Formats: sequence, structure tokens, C-alpha cells
Amino acid sequence: MITKFTIQKIMDEARVEDIVGEFVTLKKRGSNLQGLCPFHNEKSPSFSVNPARNIYKCFGCGKAGGPLQFLMDYQQLSYPDALRYIANKYNIEIEEEHRSDEQKQAEQEKHNLTESIYIANAAAQKYFTDYMLNNDNGKIGLAYFKERGFLQHTIDKFQLGFAPDAGDGFTKYALKNGFQLDVLKKAGLTSPKENSTYDFFRNRVMFPIHNMTGKVVGFGGRIMIKDEKSPKYVNTSESEVYNKSKLLYGAYFAKQEIRKKDECLLVEGYTDVISLHQAGIENAVASSGTALTPDQIRLIKRITPNITMLYDGDNAGIKAALRGTDLILEEGMNVRIVILPDQEDPDSYVKRVGVEAFNKYIQENKKDLILFKSSLFAAEAKTDPIKKAELIRDIIESIGKIPDAIQRSVYTKQCSQLFDMNEQILITEVNKARSKKASEQAKTERRQEPKQQQNNNTGNNNPPDDYYDGSNGPPDDYYPPEERDNAPVHKERFANTDSTLPYLEREVIRVLIEYGNWGIMNEDAEVSVTAYILDEMEGMDIETPRYKPIYELVKREFAEGNAHPDSFYTGNDDRDIANLAIELLETKNHVSENWFAKHKVVVPEKKDLFVRDIQSALLRLKQYHNIVEINKIAHLLRDAQDEKESERLMKLWKLLMEQKKEFARTIGNVIYRPST
Ligand code: CTP
Ligand code: MN
Repeated sequence: MITKFTIQKIMDEARVEDIVGEFVTLKKRGSNLQGLCPFHNEKSPSFSVNPARNIYKCFGCGKAGGPLQFLMDYQQLSYPDALRYIANKYNIEIEEEHRSDEQKQAEQEKHNLTESIYIANAAAQKYFTDYMLNNDNGKIGLAYFKERGFLQHTIDKFQLGFAPDAGDGFTKYALKNGFQLDVLKKAGLTSPKENSTYDFFRNRVMFPIHNMTGKVVGFGGRIMIKDEKSPKYVNTSESEVYNKSKLLYGAYFAKQEIRKKDECLLVEGYTDVISLHQAGIENAVASSGTALTPDQIRLIKRITPNITMLYDGDNAGIKAALRGTDLILEEGMNVRIVILPDQEDPDSYVKRVGVEAFNKYIQENKKDLILFKSSLFAAEAKTDPIKKAELIRDIIESIGKIPDAIQRSVYTKQCSQLFDMNEQILITEVNKARSKKASEQAKTERRQEPKQQQNNNTGNNNPPDDYYDGSNGPPDDYYPPEERDNAPVHKERFANTDSTLPYLEREVIRVLIEYGNWGIMNEDAEVSVTAYILDEMEGMDIETPRYKPIYELVKREFAEGNAHPDSFYTGNDDRDIANLAIELLETKNHVSENWFAKHKVVVPEKKDLFVRDIQSALLRLKQYHNIVEINKIAHLLRDAQDEKESERLMKLWKLLMEQKKEFARTIGNVIYRPST
């Protein structure tokens, strides 16, 4: 493992303009550099590199990151490989973590096993292919593929093969060539039964399954003749290197084209992928028969946000498609669905009609989620109001899963037009679905604190309209009507009906990331901004799910004595952290400038803006919690039964009101002080 120290050194040295410049022609444009985005097709440049921040961002497709992410995304390097690449470029010596001998040995063994499995799989693939091409008993496999219309170059590209009927042909061969039985079993190539040397795959045509870097990690073996007693496909069982839910068949061959077309076609089967590739449609991958998993979706998300699912027209196909869509939406990606004509899968259909007609069919039948769902049940819904209500509810449920507010509103509008429904009612329902989802999440994560509704509204950083600064107490409509008078009081009510908190927390996180390693005076000593903010946050927490992980990371790092510069976060190997950090820095100062503008206060000078930013962010958050407390006590007071309790609450109330005044006064001083 590369030491933290080396990683930091690499991060410090790596220049985004150098790394990106290796692959993209960049031209100077003001203080930035500009070029054609390598992640999507474009004619005029919208890909911008900011050397000062050490980040790139495409304003066309939204891809953004630091030097490390660029290598991971564009070159598909793993995190350690990207680090090594940079170290090599800048002649940085890599220190490996010092580990105990046992640890090292355990890791070494695991590494050796993994490597051995890769080697065994590679040998098996060669054996199966060779057997098919050169052995008389294997030619039946080749005939099968040819019969299905696979051309020789396709068979070569996908490394197809045939597993002999003999029973232990491969295992014997492998043992003779020095492979250990143990490794063959762990690779899933030999029967797992003790002492057995029986081949796992027998008398089947073989589809090797590659990981993202092109290594064979497992196989699918198809029976050649329909047999009720035997499954159509046998697949490698889960192994050290084969984790079905994290793999997509064909991804290694498709990744370039997916990026180029900015779209991933998702099909069900091995043969669908192969036929599409053969037809020149090379951005297709398969989930291999299982329902799409979040890991698989994220695999695609690293390359494109656009997924088009091509599914069979049978009931099972439609059900499978529907299960996948919501997961894709939850990842913030776009999903479109194409249902193929009855009895066809992509493999059979492209063969029957040819690539042109196939593409045309896809373009004409591609439906977004709402259109898809509504077309599915349109006939029923037309005549049956109950069915119609069910359908709308189902669609609302899906829309509620989309993290982006703008996209949600587009879909909601579309839905209202399609069903001729009042849009406002639909919006209310979508919001309900979202808070239901949030509270379900909170439950499953067993968090004691109620969760804030996720604020993923990335485009708009202005304080929400319902923001109030607390000086006059909460507005009358602070509580939802149905709860205004008699619901039991707990914090969740405030949280769920209020979009203020995410905004306030966002500001605190922004200054924490942006100025983390700057110095700031605390009493008489200069401390890091990280130390200062964490100290001030004592007794408070960050509750917005979106900002929690980065806050936890800051705390963890600080506990180890680190107050990092922003590059630590924008270049973090956790993409969610890096993307969030970049987003926060990108919106730098817009937030406060808009805020000041809106409230007609003079924008202070840049030089001490950072101190004011930090103080005002902290003060506003504290003020918010103060007001939530006050509201809570007010409710309790009103409902209090005995006198002692009332008295206690009264005391608390007074204390909080004092604090409230104090906040208002300090905020006045810090924020509204005109610039000098
Ligand atoms: N599958 C599987 N085990 C089975 C059946 C299917 O693992 N018993 C997986 C395979 O990855 C297969 C995919 O599900 O490719 C889709 O199944 P199906 O549509 O039945 O197979 P096709 O890929 O269409 O195969 P073929 O065209 O050869 O019938
Ligand atoms: Mn098929």
C-alpha cells in the first residue's frame, strides 16, 4: 500500500494541466486553459482546466476532477495505478506502507492467490479457444457459433471457446502444466468437491467474462442443445476475482465507445452484447441475466450518465427493466427504455433486420421513464380510474427518487401534461414521496438523529425563499398546515419541512474545505481553519446526508493531526468527496455575493472575506439550531401539564432567547459591517 505521505506528495506535485495536457490539446483562455472535451463529442471547446485550483471541468458534460480523477476516468486506471503513473512522471519515489510481517504475508498470499486465479483463467480461456479451433471434438463449438452468425473476428475478439465433454480434460491439462488443484478450484474451473478433478464446465460453448482491465475473471458456458434437465447457462461461481454483481459483460470492450457516444446500451445476455458489437454497435454491455445492481450502475456512471435499456418484450423483460430504472434514477443518472418487438432480443433482432433498421427502431422507440411507464399501462388506465391512479402513484414514486431538483420538476411537469393533472398536486406528492424515502433511509441506517431531506439542488445556491434569519421568530407558515397545531414535537418536523439547514451546512462545509489549512486567529493564537471550525462546531453536527461524509472525513483527518488544503478533497480518491469539493469550490463566493446582493449589503473586500465567511457560516448555523430549539420549547411549554415542568422550560426558553438576541447582534456585526 502506498503511504499517505507519498499520496500527499503526489497530489501536491501533480499538475492538472500537465496530466490533461498529455491527452488533450489545451489553449490558454484567460487564467484557464481550454480544449475539446475528451469525455464527449464536441465541436467547440467547453472543457476547461483551472491550474490554480488544479481541477478540470467540462461545461458540456459535467465531468470534473483533479489530475488523479482524469487518469482514472479517461485512462480507466485504478486509484493506485493512477498514483503510480503520476509518481513516475514526476520522479516521485513511492514509499510503501510498513506493515507487520504477518500482515504482509497475508496480503502477499491473497495477492498471489488472486494473481494465480487470473493466470489460471487466462490459461483456461486459451485452452477452450484452442480446443474449439484445433481439436476435432471441439469443432462442434465453432460450428455452433458460426451457425449463430458470429464471424471469426468476433469469436477472436470475445475469446470464445468450447469446453470438452471428456470430464476432466482441462483440469488434467492444467495440472500437467503446473497449476495447483487448489487454485483451479478457487478459480471455479474445477469441481469444488474434495479431491475431485472433474471440470466445472463440460460440453459447453464458452464465453469468457472480462473485468474492466481485460483480464478473464470467469466464464459463462452455454449448452448447445436444449435440455430440460440442464440449465442453459452455467456461470463461474463467486470467487476471489469474480463478483457477478460488480461486473458487466462486455464492459471492457465497450468502455471507449460508451464514452464517445455518451450512452451505454444495457442488454440482458452475452449473445446480445456480441451481436451488437459485431454489428458495429459497440457501446453495449450486459447485466448477464440478473437484476441490475447499484455497483453495476456505478460502473457505468464513471463513464456516462446515460443508460438505455434494451429489453425483450415479454413480461419478465419488462419487469426486469422496471426494477432497474429506479436504481438508475437514484444514482442521478438518465434512463431510457426500449422494448423490442415480441419474441426478439437484441441479438435476434439486429440479425433479422440489420444494423440500420435496428438503430432506427431504437431511436423511434426510446422512451423516458414516464412515457415508458404510462405507455405500458395506458390502455388499462384509460378506462379504469383506479388503474390510472395507481399508475400515477407509481410514476410519482419514481420521480421522487431523482436527486436533482430540476430534473424532478421537468418530469413532474411532463407527468401533469400527460395525465392532465394539476401540477401543484403532483409536486406535493413528489415531495411526500421524497420525505418518506428520507425517513425510511434514516430508519434503515439506524440513525438516532432525524435526517434532513437531501438537498441536491446543485444549480442554485441562493438561500431558499423560505429562509428567515430568526430576528422575528419563525414565519407563520413555518410548520406544515396539517401539523401546525397538534402534532407531537420532535426535531424531525422542523427538519423535514425546512430546506434551510442544508444551505447553512453547505456554507460551513464550503469554508471548511476551501480554507482548511489557512491560519485564523482564535483568541490569541493562530490555528488552522479546520481546528477553528471543528472547535466551534462542538455540540453540533452536520445532518444533511450529502455533506456528512466529507465532514466525517475532515474530522477523521484532523484527529490524525491533518488540516488539509482544498486539493486533498478535490483530488480525493472517493469520487463523491472529490465531486462535492469541486462543486463547493466552483460556487465559491457566488453564494455570499448573491446573498449580500439580495439583502442590499455592501460586499466586503476579498482579503478578509474568508474570515467573515467562516464566522457568518458558523453563526448562521448556530442561530438556526437556536431557533429550532426555541420552537421546540415553545411547543413543549404550551403543552406542559405541571408547573415544575413549565418553570424549567421557561428558564430554558429565556436562556435561548438571550442567545438568540446575541446571535442577531453578532451576525449584524460580522455580516452587515460595511467594508473598510
Ligand atoms: N443466464 C444465466 N443462466 C441461465 C439463463 C440465463 O446466467 N440459466 C444469463 C446469461 O448471462 C444470458 C442472460 O442471462 O446471456 C440472458 O438469458 P437469455 O436471454 O435466456 O439468453 P441469451 O443471452 O439470449 O442466449 P441465447 O441467445 O443463446 O439464447
Ligand atoms: Mn438470445
